[in-house]
Amino acid sequence: MIITIANQKGGVGKTTTVVNLGTALASIDKKILIVDVDPQYNSSLSFNRYQHDLSIYKALSGEKKFEELIQDTQIPNLQIISACEDLAAAEYELANDENRNFIIKKQLDNLKNTYDYIFIDTPPTLGLLTISALVASDEVLIPVQCEFFALEGLSKLVKTIDMIKDNLNQNLKINGIILTMYDKRNSLSSLIEEEARKYFEATVYKFNVPRNVKLSEAPSHGLPAIIYDLNCAGSQAYIGLAREFIERNT
Ligand SMILES: Nc1ncnc2c1ncn2[C@@H]1O[C@H](COP(=O)(O)OP(=O)(O)O)[C@@H](O)[C@H]1O
Ligand SMILES: [Mg+2]
Repeated sequence: MIITIANQKGGVGKTTTVVNLGTALASIDKKILIVDVDPQYNSSLSFNRYQHDLSIYKALSGEKKFEELIQDTQIPNLQIISACEDLAAAEYELANDENRNFIIKKQLDNLKNTYDYIFIDTPPTLGLLTISALVASDEVLIPVQCEFFALEGLSKLVKTIDMIKDNLNQNLKINGIILTMYDKRNSLSSLIEEEARKYFEATVYKFNVPRNVKLSEAPSHGLPAIIYDLNCAGSQAYIGLAREFIERNT
């Protein structure tokens, strides 16, 4: 199954979710591929994998195939197709390509059966790279930061998803919404949670991800938080989410 992690807001926990949910699932023997289509390549950095000649750009520009770009990570069962700065050029180079919306789908369809889950990490825009990721996907997972205006951007994202369903990928489904950076000492967090659950009901995951400094430290060590500090509240939340993710898919 192919799942895009999307939210056109930056800094809401997309990359942290891809890296740690992916690692949690790999640790229970699921075979995982992470595909980084963000020109800021934070998920590639989180695994210390950002070699120029293995950048996903090589495939989007037609030089190589996805198969040739797959790299192992430090985590057994978890591989990555990484990005680097060169990906920034793809957005305008592909702008007039009539197959642009299908450029990721065309490559991933060959790999789909090799993995239990393929996670695509996207940039904080609803541009070409995010759209092509959604076109290639079965489901979309949406991290939402527990802060003011968080839900406002969400309606635009849901409209974009509906547009893609109507025109480009009728099978696309919303897997769920994950509330991130939840601060139980801050009443705003519980207010956002209440609103989100009222409006989006069971779409919202039962587990929230707490604000946890270990989650933000781990990437600078080139490691997923789950490896950096398994026992911290953030890692434990992602382990709980992985369980809930599997329940939703069985
Ligand atoms: N639950 C959390 N608690 C504390 N810091 C977090 C949490 N989730 C993410 N961060 C940090 O916040 C920043 C933005 O998160 P990130 O996952 O990169 O968001 P996005 O990919 O949506 O831009 C990063 O520095 C990350 O380490
Ligand atoms: Mg990111």
